[in-house]
Amino acid sequence: MNNEDTTFPNQFVWGVATSAYQIEGACSENGKGMSVWDDFCLKENSICNGDSGTVACDHYHRFVDDVSAIRDLGSPAYRFSISWPRVIPDGIGDVNQPGLDYYDALVDELLAGQIEPWITLFHWDYPLALFQRGGWLNPESPRWFADYVGPVVDRLSDRVQNWITINEPQCFLKFGHADGIDAPGLTLDFQEQLLACHHTLLAHGLGVSAIREKAKKKPFIGWAPVADVKIPATDGNRDLAAARQATMSVCPESLWNNTWYNDPVFFGKYPEEGIQAYGQSVPKYSSKEMEIISAPIDFLGLNIYTGSHVSAVEPDGYRELTVPPGTPRTTTDWPVVEESLYWGPKFHWERYKTPIYITENGMANVDWIDMDGIVWDPQRIDYTKRHLLQLRRCIEEQIDVRGYFHWSLLDNFEWSKGFSKRFGLIYVDFQTQRRVMKQAAYWYKDVIASNGRSLRVDP
Ligand code: BG6
Repeated sequence: MNNEDTTFPNQFVWGVATSAYQIEGACSENGKGMSVWDDFCLKENSICNGDSGTVACDHYHRFVDDVSAIRDLGSPAYRFSISWPRVIPDGIGDVNQPGLDYYDALVDELLAGQIEPWITLFHWDYPLALFQRGGWLNPESPRWFADYVGPVVDRLSDRVQNWITINEPQCFLKFGHADGIDAPGLTLDFQEQLLACHHTLLAHGLGVSAIREKAKKKPFIGWAPVADVKIPATDGNRDLAAARQATMSVCPESLWNNTWYNDPVFFGKYPEEGIQAYGQSVPKYSSKEMEIISAPIDFLGLNIYTGSHVSAVEPDGYRELTVPPGTPRTTTDWPVVEESLYWGPKFHWERYKTPIYITENGMANVDWIDMDGIVWDPQRIDYTKRHLLQLRRCIEEQIDVRGYFHWSLLDNFEWSKGFSKRFGLIYVDFQTQRRVMKQAAYWYKDVIASNGRSLRVDP
């Protein structure tokens, strides 16, 4: 790796990211409807320590100050999500104007601070009323999503250009619809999981068309799946081929992969290996549906936090290696594998030839306010530095990576882990809602201001 020049291209987008349910709070204010997460949090033992997103970071009431913190960070872009039931309380039907007004004001505040909004339209807080009508299993569900996207884009697209349809379909489908550990807490059989997945893909496609139809400013549209990244165990060609193959593989009875999601979106067809692996469980679909799903998009967002190593196995297979004892891990127990930010974009670029933005990367750390008033988080600085240097390798190799959004702006409601895990660049005291910039925030500010030059590692 060339550590001499660590600058990123001039147009490279630096940003921070959040999602609505994780930070907004104000769960039933100003006409907001319930989401599956509001409901799931009420169930006993669903969330660590009985936490919920009812107040979260109270961002709904404090967004002006939070936007000012983004400005202090010098972050030119901010990725946030819109709460569907805040905009349409029952998921379909009447629009809740105060809900839209809120996002309208947030967008204005961002633009006044010269911060470019990147809007995610669905980051898991599905309207409870629609879940009660079958949720993602209902064949109407793709249309419901598009009908919600329309009014949002209509209202905001005179100022907003960057749209992300859906965040991490793999996660909400697997954890929420297969394992039952996230909202809505379902444990569907595999055939139903694939049906929910198919409807999610259709919702993405119809959402893309709805954005293009309503947009006042030329839209820039993508989606943000997780990238499950496999890394070659050695520099050898066989391990390289094995890692590529593993990254793009589909295993039977598991929704956890990349290609079952991205191939339909970019190629208009499910991967052959998946069709073989899933067999009878694959839902019936028409070529018209695949056409809808593959409505052209402008970029691929990748959420990457970790990765695993694989080596080749004779004659043409691969084997995932166990994580060596003592490997550094974040407080969510994810191994720190920074090469994931090189190999993930590389393999996705080779296959999909679509501009890539890292829409999430970051780590949970043991953070508290020191007696000196400072939040020292050297591990987060080191983690991010390692990952950004690997991303820089992509730039050297002309892999079209155009942006990086750090997850997250704020410590927040970390889904079923409640407030027990802190991912923020900004520390949040959940008792007082006081914010404190962590040391990593100051460090990231320098990275942004120097366009990556400050990442340089002196020998
Ligand atoms: C992603 C999500 O899975 O990573 C975020 O898009 C989430 O919403 C983040 O907060 C951290 O993951 P986890 O599994 O700790 O919630």
